[in-house]
Amino acid sequence: MNKSSQGKITRISGPVIYATGLIGPQKNHVVNVGYEELLGEIVQIRGEIAIIQVYEDTSGIGINEPVIDLKRPLTIQLGPGLISTVFDGIQRPLDLLNTDFIPRGAKLEPLSSTKKWDFVPNPKTKVGTELKGGEVLGTVQETTLISHKILVPPNVNGTLKEVTQGGKYSIREPIALLDDGTELYLSHEWPVRQPRPFSKRLPLTTPFLTGQRILDYLFPLAGGGAAMIPGGFGTGKTVLERTLAKFSSTDIMVLTLCGERGNEIADALSSFMELEDPRTKRPMIERTCIIANTSNMPVAAREASIYAGVTMAEYYRDMGYRCSVLADSTSRWAEALREISGRLGEIPGEEGFPSYLPKLIGQFYERAGLTETLSGDKGSVTIIGAVSPMGGDFSEPVTQYSLRFTSTLWGLETELARARHYPAISWKISYSGSIREITNYMEEQYSNWIETRGKIQKILQEEEELERIVRLIGKDTLSETQNGLLLTADIIKEGFLQQSAISETDAYCPFEKTDLMARTIIRAHEAIQGHLHNKSITVEQLYDKTPLIEELKRLKEFSVFEINDYYINLETHIDEEIARGIAL
Ligand SMILES: Nc1ncnc2c1ncn2[C@@H]1O[C@H](COP(=O)(O)OP(=O)(O)OP(=O)(O)O)[C@@H](O)[C@H]1O
Ligand SMILES: [Mg+2]
Repeated sequence: MNKSSQGKITRISGPVIYATGLIGPQKNHVVNVGYEELLGEIVQIRGEIAIIQVYEDTSGIGINEPVIDLKRPLTIQLGPGLISTVFDGIQRPLDLLNTDFIPRGAKLEPLSSTKKWDFVPNPKTKVGTELKGGEVLGTVQETTLISHKILVPPNVNGTLKEVTQGGKYSIREPIALLDDGTELYLSHEWPVRQPRPFSKRLPLTTPFLTGQRILDYLFPLAGGGAAMIPGGFGTGKTVLERTLAKFSSTDIMVLTLCGERGNEIADALSSFMELEDPRTKRPMIERTCIIANTSNMPVAAREASIYAGVTMAEYYRDMGYRCSVLADSTSRWAEALREISGRLGEIPGEEGFPSYLPKLIGQFYERAGLTETLSGDKGSVTIIGAVSPMGGDFSEPVTQYSLRFTSTLWGLETELARARHYPAISWKISYSGSIREITNYMEEQYSNWIETRGKIQKILQEEEELERIVRLIGKDTLSETQNGLLLTADIIKEGFLQQSAISETDAYCPFEKTDLMARTIIRAHEAIQGHLHNKSITVEQLYDKTPLIEELKRLKEFSVFEINDYYINLETHIDEEIARGIAL
């Protein structure tokens, strides 16, 4: 262990302080600042001067107060107890109802050191076994839903000399001993800025299903991929992130709430505590980690929160879980970087953001992936970042840089939100970079997905083109089949893409139902187009004299069985309704 060294404060600029007198200071090492021992991190070294960002409010700190170099990087503690606790960006547990009030310099334990966990050793790890980093020493039942594997820290190897027979342990009591005297515990520390190692990256093959029709059917994301959700003020980013937290196909959810107002976060957190996991009927919080940084908490901790979140997800990935990081909003994180960079007097890049912003955004999203873990298991981290561009202008830097590093874009449109078309995900600008990866899997399960998806997209594109023509030269120029296509586009938008997050029955749509709805709408469209082409009915009559359009718009209200019945008899039903409508 390196010895700590002491220096003193020479200058203070908000969250940034300058110190001299440290011996051999290193970038990214943490320090204690001032008599109150606030936590800080060295971000630059200029000659004799170490420049430090402080994770707590620096008001009241004075020149010449001490700075102690702790000679280690910023780490978080990983072990049982991460789930269900709400942390700030430097992993201090927050009191849910009092998110703003952690006393400065408070040395709060991230994980309880007194709580006892029932440790069950892995029968394969016997005394004399050569242990490698990442291997499983045993398990602890962390919550009803999650069995927490106790891993050898990735950077530790050795021969097992002693191991407990199991029983109740706190994270402070050793459970095993290696030949070289290293003690192993239920928890270990890991530097947040350093991705946790794995054996190898695996190709992505399965979808990260969300229960949201527009995402699952039109713009799917592969599990282990990265997506971004840009959207102007109030377009539904937070509602969407929360919907994903609740319904997506994930074992462990890490919510990183960044820079929103304190009361909003407190509201969100308490509502989240009450949410029920739709799959297991247990409280959602039993498989969720939350990191919260309100707008009035120090900016540097907001900067760290993104890394803390993804490190926690990687830790559970290493146990073989499918994990997701939902970050809301990465713009607030980038603003924290901008503020610190300004204080450091760095030459600003675009819109005042530091020139290394793209590199940092890249490093964040690159931590997504499907991997073979060090113990030979399979685990994944899927990352979804919300971006809040000012005025909904997607040309701004955070949106543009995020686009480079995420394969999939779920863009929220102000116009749709204004029209209360929810989720306000635009089918015009959104795209999926995962189609090729998941095609084999999807086609095996749902054989017509690629074809039907293509047809839906084509109808939406043709609608756009027809609307343009109508604006230019009026509706009269359209043929009946073209008018019929506009009708189908309406059915798709209202009956398929719209999905209320607050509906009891429709907030979550299983893929089987999504697929069946899509195929029903397309099959109906093709049958109706045939009738329009043969002039056996007009669009106006379809609307006025048959229930077909209304029925198709209301498919989402029905069960899979009911839709299936409807689907099987669809052509006959359409023929009959049309014949009856004409006869009226
Ligand atoms: N899928 C949805 N279903 C029903 N209502 C929705 C949906 N999405 C958004 N809304 C409505 O829009 C409002 C604003 O959504 P939300 O707070 O998620 O926006 P935001 O993009 O996070 O805003 P901000 O820019 O302030 O962070 C919600 O309070 C809700 O009324
Ligand atoms: Mg929001």
